[in-house]
Amino acid sequence: MTIRITWKRAILAALALGIAAILFAWSGAMQISASSGHWRITDWFLHWTMRNSVRTYSAFQSPDDPLDDSGLVGAAGHFRQSCAVCHGAPGVRPSPVMQAATPPAPDLAKTAVEWSDRELFWIVRHGVKFTGMPAWAAEDRPDEVRRMAAFVRRLPSMTPTQYRALVEESDGQSVPGVRPGVLAACTGCHGNDGGGRGQPDIPVLGGQKPAYLAATLRDYATGKRSSALMQTAAATLNEDEITRLAAHFSAMPGLTDIALPTNHPALRGDPARQLPACSNCHAPGKSAPILTGQKAPYLAGRLHHWQGEETVVDARKTADTMPTIARRIRVEEIDGVAKALAANPPRP
Ligand code: HEC
Ligand code: HEC
Ligand code: HEC
Repeated sequence: MTIRITWKRAILAALALGIAAILFAWSGAMQISASSGHWRITDWFLHWTMRNSVRTYSAFQSPDDPLDDSGLVGAAGHFRQSCAVCHGAPGVRPSPVMQAATPPAPDLAKTAVEWSDRELFWIVRHGVKFTGMPAWAAEDRPDEVRRMAAFVRRLPSMTPTQYRALVEESDGQSVPGVRPGVLAACTGCHGNDGGGRGQPDIPVLGGQKPAYLAATLRDYATGKRSSALMQTAAATLNEDEITRLAAHFSAMPGLTDIALPTNHPALRGDPARQLPACSNCHAPGKSAPILTGQKAPYLAGRLHHWQGEETVVDARKTADTMPTIARRIRVEEIDGVAKALAANPPRP
């Protein structure tokens, strides 16, 4: 006997299969325990699907320059606080609890070579559904993702000594009233002297106004100021620790509160585009942060971030003071403004 395939039969068969799947799910027989793992074929199929998806989406959604090598200290510090628990790190084993998940997180020192730069960026930025691999905690910080992707790229050749040199800097100091270990986490990125360990993306904290440091730590903790690195570092601080850490770093030598330079026209303001003089607020005795002597790439990064995406229409942009002012600075002026501020006074 031959069975002829007609449209009607095909649709009925598809319906029957669908009902069977629902009955199977309803019966509770589906094994969802992580301890049972996947069959080898399911494992292969899921990973194959994931690879194809990452390849397709990264081709469209990753930037042309997906890696940035300039901020390895910050990326490594964030890897230690947010990723190593699942993935492990050079000389550091992953948590056995996390390795008991299905699928367990891979050892990136082995698997990073299997992915292109654009793919690494995409995975770190977007995460992977159904696996526990999280998306980047700050949606609007692709600059941070690029630095992390560059760090992951280096993992296969990184020795435990090199990793420790990136994530550790502590002279054993402590701040009374701050839990042990918290300060060492800060200094791992910011350095014992609050100078940011020579990293262009980590600002100088020394000499900065303590009230501003405390306020901005609160903004990170609540997510008002976005940075996956600092949101993670600030999330667990209590109010008392925030004030004490702000006072601790602020008391170090670093920035000096002097009058702003005026050697760039945008700093003097421009009534024609409603750009106020920066010294209206950034001046000795006023509450806005000290800009003189701060790192140029960091200052430029903040101004670019406030300008936001050109494609977002004005009505949806925030009306907060600095974003509004930053949007009145021309994009091509930003580097000049940042350099003029950073060079004054010249840092030793
Ligand atoms: C809760 C555990 C968990 C955390 C935390 C985590 N990951 Fe993952 N990650 C995974 C799992 C599981 C996979 C495997 C996904 C797959 O293969 O389907 C993965 C995959 C990856 C991959 C792709 C490599 C590969 O071979 O699959 C990269 C790159 C990666 N993670 C980077 C990071 C970074 C960077 C962080 C920190 C910001 C991080 N992960 C945090 C669980 C985690
Ligand atoms: C993983 C690295 C890392 C760790 C850990 C870290 N920071 Fe930061 N911190 C940064 C980076 C990078 C920035 C710049 C973030 C940005 O672009 O907004 C920053 C910014 C800051 C700022 C804002 C400075 C300004 O001028 O606006 C403060 C304050 C600060 N950190 C304090 C701390 C304290 C206190 C700790 C410890 C609880 C800490 N940080 C831990 C990397 C780190
Ligand atoms: C009306 C007051 C005001 C004026 C005018 C002003 N600022 Fe600001 N600025 C602020 C405040 C307040 C902050 C702190 C924002 C925050 O908490 O994130 C700030 C922060 C900044 C920062 C970030 C500093 C850091 O350490 O992260 C930069 C860069 C900056 N301003 C540049 C400028 C420039 C350039 C001008 C002139 C074109 C200017 N500002 C004019 C009030 C002002």
